[in-house]
This record gives sequence, structure tokens and C-alpha cells, in this order.
Amino acid sequence: MDPIEQVTDRVNNLLRQMTLEEKIGQLTQLGQYIPDTVPIDDRVRRGQVGSILWLSDPAEINRLQHMAVEQSRLHIPLLFGLDVIHGFRTIFPIPLALAASWDPELVEKVQAVAAREASACGINWTFAPMVDIARDARWGRIIEGAGEDPFLGAAIARAQVRGFQGAEMGSPGHVLACAKHFAGYGAADGGRDYDSAYLPEGLLRNVYLPPFHAALEAGVGTFMSAYMDLNDVPATGNRFLLEQVLRREWNFRGFVVSDAAAVGDLATHGFARDPQDAAFRALTAGVNMDMASRTYLEHLAASVQNGSLPVAVIDEAVRPILATKIQMGLFEHPYIDESQIQRILDTPEHRQLARIAAQRSAVLLRNEGQLLPLKMQSVKSLAVIGPLADSQQDLLSSWAMQGNPTDVVTIVQGLHNKVGSNVQIEYAQGVEISRQYPSMFDALMGRSQPVPWTDAQSQAEFGRAVELAGRSDLVVLVVGELANMSGELASQSSLDLPGRQVELVKAVAATSRPIVLVLVNGRPLNLSQVVEHVPAILEVWHPGVEGGNAVADLLWGDMTPGGKLTVSWPRSAGQCPIYYAHNLTHQPDTSPMFTSRYWDMASSPLYPFGFGLSYTTFAYSNVCLDRAEARRGETLNVSVDVENTGERPGDEVVQVYSHQRAGSASRPVQELKGFCRIALAPGEKKTVQFALGPGELSFWSPTESKWVQEAETFDVWVGGDSMATLHMMFKIV
Ligand code: NOJ
Repeated sequence: MDPIEQVTDRVNNLLRQMTLEEKIGQLTQLGQYIPDTVPIDDRVRRGQVGSILWLSDPAEINRLQHMAVEQSRLHIPLLFGLDVIHGFRTIFPIPLALAASWDPELVEKVQAVAAREASACGINWTFAPMVDIARDARWGRIIEGAGEDPFLGAAIARAQVRGFQGAEMGSPGHVLACAKHFAGYGAADGGRDYDSAYLPEGLLRNVYLPPFHAALEAGVGTFMSAYMDLNDVPATGNRFLLEQVLRREWNFRGFVVSDAAAVGDLATHGFARDPQDAAFRALTAGVNMDMASRTYLEHLAASVQNGSLPVAVIDEAVRPILATKIQMGLFEHPYIDESQIQRILDTPEHRQLARIAAQRSAVLLRNEGQLLPLKMQSVKSLAVIGPLADSQQDLLSSWAMQGNPTDVVTIVQGLHNKVGSNVQIEYAQGVEISRQYPSMFDALMGRSQPVPWTDAQSQAEFGRAVELAGRSDLVVLVVGELANMSGELASQSSLDLPGRQVELVKAVAATSRPIVLVLVNGRPLNLSQVVEHVPAILEVWHPGVEGGNAVADLLWGDMTPGGKLTVSWPRSAGQCPIYYAHNLTHQPDTSPMFTSRYWDMASSPLYPFGFGLSYTTFAYSNVCLDRAEARRGETLNVSVDVENTGERPGDEVVQVYSHQRAGSASRPVQELKGFCRIALAPGEKKTVQFALGPGELSFWSPTESKWVQEAETFDVWVGGDSMATLHMMFKIV
């Protein structure tokens, strides 16, 4: 028997012996924090649970697993699922930052470490990667994805799946991955979390689905259905998404889990009549496992008993869950060795990777007069100012629950580590920032809101910061947002720097000291009021445990920033949604009539997609296409020479964009179709090649209702960001 037949055989064998209750049990994931009238031990022994959510205590995981394997009738092991998003104990930069590295290999390594640490503690399933396209910075969960672009999003999705799952399902030290949230969650109206998304099929297929498809191609074992309504049908009851696209068109063989409580919520949406209807609709739409609502457990059997739901439908839903457990080797190796955990968590190698990841994720947005890198000769006293400069918690993020804030090297600490006694460093917080109401994660973690400063304290702290700036050679001003200001249920109507941070920047700037603004945040923020006051801006995001050391490496020039934005950076929230791959319209941006689509501000972003500066300079030359014409289905090759023309080693992210000039639908002004991050020593030149084949040149045509590659003329640009000007043309015939 081949391995697939063997798995099917074992699944059939189990299914034959299972009662209806045990089958529904496999479709049920119970939540650690969800109150239940029946003790979890009883449910496990009775085979009423297939998976457990949010449990992360290794001893408890082992205890329950022993119970499932030794005391349940059919000895089926449990899956332990947790949100391991950008690290488990060793917390790496947030996913939006990791994507800004434009380095899929790095992303794969990071998620492999996350998997190693999580699996050592008994977690065998992560609810990641989050591959939702996000084009609206108001949406708090923009932090969890790779940004606005489907091509880059697809590459980062593949890398994450490989990192989490390893070479194949069941690779030791790896975990099952889950592509979420299927699909369209990032398009929530107004950037408001959970709000409805309306996506025409062309936009859905051309922009929002490709990263999911890429995850599937990389072998992702599970998908998570999203919370929101997509075109008025909740994603968790959406047959078009789950049945038509995922199973029929894409031939997905793994299983789908709902988002937490989303099955029961089908009634809350005003879609299902009641919980029984909700369970029926989710299951028959294609959701195999109910996360944390117990709606399947409590209501599916009734539909079988009244004859509306054939048991065969339940069997089909159970099959891929059992198959996954078998393929993961869980029946053979259900337990973890708790004595090994300490050896695996937070090792020096993991921390080193966290430092590299933070260095490579940083994006240099501004560097007037080459203020950066800092020079020891001219900086003898350094003021480090701002509410995020010495914070440990805020270098992590909302999804960092197993991380330990005390592991974090703050920016103040990192700078001390770097310069020792050569530079005198002093710190002043200046202002405090806080949310208006506690975040969901603070509530979950039992964190209390800090006690606000009194007016007198605020005045004194502000004054102290400005006074410190005035007597220092240089100021590193660390501003942005707290970790709890982005993430789930953390959307914002404004992108302004919270609290009195703008005032602080202006007051510090008034001292005429040179300022390096370091941004710690999970989303683009409105910099329009501060950008002119600061010569240098380094975006470091929520950079993780080694954030402070990485920032010091970058500021002092031991590393050259090479990250690039994966989101267009708006001038203000009023521009959202904003993205580079928009259509030409009847009055394109290049038309002489065109000034702006707004009368009160430019409609271009403050910083474009793909943008990021370096301490060195790069020259592009010799760009060529191997032919000016190709037939449909053929591949053209673009090549370009890139030379480091500066005096420092540095990395450049070479990017290729294309545009189809006419066709069955209007096509975006430009779309990313290739990228490559290369390292160049001073004076070094490399030739970079990209292939443009049918995969890059096809799109889903709304007029044809299918994927097409059209015989048309195309533009192609090569350069270091989406404003690239090196241009060529070719024809598909
Ligand atoms: C809700 C979130 O939307 C999802 O991303 C997460 O995986 C689940 N909760 C489980 O924590």
C-alpha cells in the first residue's frame, strides 16, 4: 500500500468504530478559557474533543494527551492549537515587519524556530500564517500580515508554511500550519475589525486569494474560515469560498477550522436561525472543526437525528482531521519530553536570529544630510527620549503571550550595550500614551491599565525630556504606538501619533539638536506633522526580544538598513484604503490635468510601496528583456545589473513591476511581479534575473469570469521601489 492508501485505510478503520458522539468530538475544538459545564477531563475521556485551543502549559498538555490516548475508547490523540504568530518564547518582529525584510528565507527560518519552541512545549498546531491582504492602516490586524500586495504576500505565505511545517507534515520539531482568515478579512469596511467586506470576484481572486493559494501550494494542512461577512455571506458559512474555491477548484485535502466562536456566531450575524441551523450551515459549507463555540458538539447530532444531515457528511468532515493526526505522527508520538524544554527555548541561536530578523525588517524612511549612521567621534552625549524608548512590553506585540517581557532588550538598553562608556546616554520618557479602553489581550492576560500621570507629573516629565535634549549632542526619539494599540479588535479611526507625541517631537526639535526618530508600531502612522522636524526616521516596528540591540546595530552602522515598506504609507487616515496597484482611471496620475484626487492634500502616499533607504547607494544599469515578444504560455526574462556605488556594504531589494496596457478589464497601473534582496559590497555589481511567465502575466478577468492571459502590450519597470523608472515594453502575441 502506498502511504496515502495507508492513511485512508487507518482513517476508515477508525471511522468504522466511531459513534456519532465520537465523530462530532473530532470536529470539536474546546477553548481553554471558555466556560463549560462539563469538566474537560470528562469530555476528553468520552472522546468529545478533537482539539484544544490556547492551552500552553506543557504539563497540562501532556496530562490531557495521556488521558486522550490512554483513557478514551479509540485512543485518538488531541491536537493542541495556539496562535504562534511571530515566535513562541523567543519573540521575533511582527509579521508586517518580517515581510518588510523581503527575505522569504529569513521568514522561513524564523517560523521554523517558532515551531521548534512551540512543539517542544506540546503545541502541534499554530493558527498562522495570517495571509490577509491589508490596504487600510486603520485595521488593527494589518500588523499580522505581509501588507498590501498579493505577489509578495504569496511569497511570504509560502515561506511561513515551510517554516512551520518543515519539509513534510509530521517533520519533527515542526507544527501544523493554518492559513487564515479565509477570506477577505483585511477588506473590512472602514478598517473596522470584523466589519463586512465587499469584494467583487475579480478583486477577490486577483488580490485577496493568491496568498492563500500559495499557502496551499506550499502544503498548508489547515485553513481558518474568517469571522466577517463576505459579500453578505459569513465566511464561516460561505459555500462559495469553502466548497467552490477551496475544495473544488483548489483541491484542498486538509481541513478547515472556524475562527473562534464563529460557528455559533452565524446566528449572531442574522444568517442562521439558531445554533442548530448554525452548526448545520457551517458544516455543510465546509467547516470541519468548530473552534471554541461547542455548537457542533451540542447541536449537530440533532440534525442527524431528524434526518436533515446524513452521517456520511459528518464522516467526510472527520476524515481529513484523522488523516492529519495520522500524517503528523501523533498516534506514534503523542507526548512531549518536558525535561527537554529548557534546552530548546530562548537559546542564544534563537536570540541571534531574532536580532538579525529585527535588523533586516527595519526600514530607513528618511536620512537628510546622512545623519545616520551615527558617528562616535561627533556624538558624546545621547538623549534617548520617548514613551517607547525603554519599554519591554511594547517591543513585543499583542500575539506574544508566551514571550516574556523581561527577555526584551529595550532600545535604551541596546544603545548602552553598544556604546558602553564611550557615549553618555540619558533617558527621559517625556510623555505617556495609553488606549482609551483596555485591549482584549490585556484583559486576557490580566494586565491592568497604568495609572495615568498627574498634570504636574506630565509637565515635569515633558520639561525634563526637552531639557535633556537641549544639552545632548543628538536625540534618539522613540515614538509610535503601544503593543496593545494594534492587532485584533484594535482598529483606529485616526493614524495620528497617540497622546502628546507630536508636541514632544516639535518641542525637542525646537532645541535644534539633530534628531533620529525611531518608530515602534504595528501600522503606518500619520507623520505629516513631524516629518519636516526630523532629519532621520528609522521604522523598526514591534521588533521583538532583540529589538534594542538591533536598533543600536542599525543606528551605529554595524548593519545597514535594507528593509522596504510592504504597505503604501498614507499621509493621513483620510487616504485609506491606499495601495500602489490602483487602476489608471480616466484621469491618470500622469495626466497634465492631474494634481491630486483630493483638493486638500496630495493623493499620493507619503512613502510608496517598496520604499526604503540605505546608508549606501545603488545604481541600476543594463536592464534588458531577452525578447520583445512572446507567445501566450511562454516566459520572458528580465535582467538588470545592480551596483553598490557607495562606501558601505548594503542590501538592495530589486523589484520588477508590470502593467498590461489594454484587455478585457482595466489593469492596475503596476503590479509587483518579481523581487530579490541582494547583498552588495562597496563597488560590487550583480546581475539579477526575473522570469515573467503565464503565472505573472495572467489575471482573473471579470468579463470572462476566468483566468486569462491576453495578447496585449505590457510595460515593465525595474528598480528599488514602486516608483521605479527603468522601463521597457514587450508584447504577448
Ligand atoms: C480569533 C482570531 O481572529 C484568530 O486569528 C485566532 O487564531 C483565534 N482567535 C484563536 O486565537
